[in-house]
Amino acid sequence: MTTLSFDKSKLTSFVNDEELAMIQPMVTVADEMLRQGTGAGAAYTDWIKLPTEYDQAEFARIQAAAQKIKKNSQVLVVIGIGGSYLGARAAVDFLNDYFNSAYSDGEREFPQIIFTGNNISGQYLNSVIKLIGDRDFSVNVISKSGTTTEPAIAFRVFKQMLEDKYGAEASKERIFATTDAKRGALKTLADDQGYEEFVVPDGVGGRFSVLTAVGLLPIAAAGGDIEQLMAGAAAAQNDYADADLQKNEAYQYAAYRNILYRKGYTTELLINYEPTLVQFGEWWKQLQGESEGKDGKGIFPASGNFSTDLHSFGQYIQEGRRNIFETLVRVTNPASDVVIPEMEADDGLEYLQGKTMSYVNRMASDGTLLAHVDGGVPNMVVEIEQQDAYHLGYMIYFFEIAVGISGYLNGVNPFNQPGVEAYKKNMFGLLGKPGYEELTTALRERL
Ligand code: PA5
Repeated sequence: MTTLSFDKSKLTSFVNDEELAMIQPMVTVADEMLRQGTGAGAAYTDWIKLPTEYDQAEFARIQAAAQKIKKNSQVLVVIGIGGSYLGARAAVDFLNDYFNSAYSDGEREFPQIIFTGNNISGQYLNSVIKLIGDRDFSVNVISKSGTTTEPAIAFRVFKQMLEDKYGAEASKERIFATTDAKRGALKTLADDQGYEEFVVPDGVGGRFSVLTAVGLLPIAAAGGDIEQLMAGAAAAQNDYADADLQKNEAYQYAAYRNILYRKGYTTELLINYEPTLVQFGEWWKQLQGESEGKDGKGIFPASGNFSTDLHSFGQYIQEGRRNIFETLVRVTNPASDVVIPEMEADDGLEYLQGKTMSYVNRMASDGTLLAHVDGGVPNMVVEIEQQDAYHLGYMIYFFEIAVGISGYLNGVNPFNQPGVEAYKKNMFGLLGKPGYEELTTALRERL
């Protein structure tokens, strides 16, 4: 098996070969726009070559910072929202034991990673503070703009907590700031305070930043092999460089999505059968939704955590409105397995004893896939062989390059996110932020 296999064999009753051939000229143009930098948003496409052209010196500093955190901290608090946390969180879950981030005591080889600054809940912050308890901790605050409200509020709280615990000077040794190279409030503060800084490169948007310091520092601190992560992404960069649909499965995925979308399949579910992939689905939702959902268009990205969700909205998928297609992400060899034990008493499971849970899971996913296809839900399968950093890096790149092509195929700029500003403006207005006075009055009247 190759590092990643893309199976579209269950699409035959929904899309024919001719349709794929018909879309090739559009894919060729989209590829040119993406790689020659002639498409909208070209200034934000540096992620394309990132796996082979990253800052080696900074990479070494990331490794060193991760070691330092490992030595002096039992907890790393990662503060960031959207692209400034989703990739790291997906990778930390994928590469670790499922409850790794939930353990709060006992011996740990690596610090516990706690993500915060991704909501505006005081209750959540209090829970994080409680979870840290008396343990030694460090903070990685991540914000490209350096001005996003959610992480800025959380950072104030944890900066104060560090200063109370370690004193103003020593706490600076425990703060790592990942932000723009030149601009923003966080950059100014980090320069002023002398925090160790890492850069979110100019040409890499938040949702494409998991392979920069944004993702790499938390992943490395959690014990992830970031060299292998980059090596996997570099292999994918090499493998998915051809505009020919017959030779490029990431482009095939983009093309099939586009064909299905035009036929009325407007919602895509990214399906997993493995709890350590749940957060990967969250990362993917941002990647797709923020890249494609604009100008009144775009496939709505959602996720399904099976078999759990088969017992909730599985009914809808099987028999509800026929506008859904699914992309199943699965790992051939699970990180660990359980053999179903023998039992004398009859609980009706005799036919399964001695079999592995992964075998049962596989049968569940195969059975569901066929049932959904029979029910009118197109299905594609993205499968990686192992649950490790190399394969994760490879798969991340597969979805990133696909969304670039997909966005251009659908006639949008896949690299901006103008819609994200609308809620922020209203929030600032309602909070009475200086400079928003007129909006404050207008919004309060409407409420
Ligand atoms: O992808 C994006 O651009 C956004 O989701 C941002 O990552 C998110 O809004 C956080 O922004 P920042 O990193 O500037 O705090």
